[in-house]
Amino acid sequence: MTATVGTTVRHLLRDDDLAPAEQAEVLELAATMKADPFGRRPLAGPRAVAVVFDKSSTRTRVSFEVGIAALGGTPVMIDGRDAQLGRGETIGDTARVLSRYVDAIVWRTGSEERIQEMAAHATVPVVNALTDGFHPCQVLADLQTIAERQGGTAGRTLTYLGDGANNMAHSLLLGGATAGMHVRVAAPTGFTPDAAVVDAARARAAETGGSVTVTDDPAASEGADVLVTDTWTSMGQESDGRDRAVLAPFRLDAAAVARARPDVTVLHCLPAHRGDEITAEVIDGPASAVWDEAENRLHAQKAVLTWLLERSR
Ligand code: CP
Ligand code: NVA
Repeated sequence: MTATVGTTVRHLLRDDDLAPAEQAEVLELAATMKADPFGRRPLAGPRAVAVVFDKSSTRTRVSFEVGIAALGGTPVMIDGRDAQLGRGETIGDTARVLSRYVDAIVWRTGSEERIQEMAAHATVPVVNALTDGFHPCQVLADLQTIAERQGGTAGRTLTYLGDGANNMAHSLLLGGATAGMHVRVAAPTGFTPDAAVVDAARARAAETGGSVTVTDDPAASEGADVLVTDTWTSMGQESDGRDRAVLAPFRLDAAAVARARPDVTVLHCLPAHRGDEITAEVIDGPASAVWDEAENRLHAQKAVLTWLLERSR
């Protein structure tokens, strides 16, 4: 429902919307919620959360729907292409209307301008469920998984191999630096991260003791605690005509794993394309934590919704 005039409404549009201490609080809450899934019901009433998709989804859709119900709330699942939004109702009007019905808006859409516009007009928290530029909910789950597997996040080295210009690379840069990690992105020309995002990640790393490296050397998996990759063709890029053969040396394969630390954790947000960005041997092998990572979407998103609602009162 509409927040009282004068209160602050917190949003999660990109990973650095959470300060380092705030991210740590969310991750601690996520671990608590994983240990005791029904211990907190901040949406009891029930309060409702709108979850809107302008793009396809399996994990995000199911984990938000199940998670909101577990918090005692009612998830209102909306296909954005089927709503009036999809036939020209403005984002501002949609934000104002949804804010009268629900306590938070979760949105998977395209450009950053679209989700910024939603947040500018909403009077309830807005959560980015993936945009072209960022996927902060996924990276909270990734950090939770890294903490479980590696005993913590700060000081660990995470190497991302492949399309360094997509939402996952950007969110790992920002979210990893916020967690005090040493984040390396290895990508070929034409697939390098947005310079402004790299600058923001470096600024965050300077606060946390982390670091940021962008390289075109696929051997950047050397000594890594965590290896990550993602699809070479993100949603919306299917017909962009770019030559993806240049990405082949950045495939997450057994050679990349062999260069990393012996206890390396392999992550992939899924869906995966075995034989393209990752080999079957690696994603289905002993270093892979992708199923825990997928499960942690549920816990991390319950935590971030709870945290944003508490901070927005
Ligand atoms: N990782 C992820 O966001 O998956 P979905 O596209 O299935 O939601
Ligand atoms: N980079 C991928 C992530 C999918 C969860 C995409 O945007 O399609």
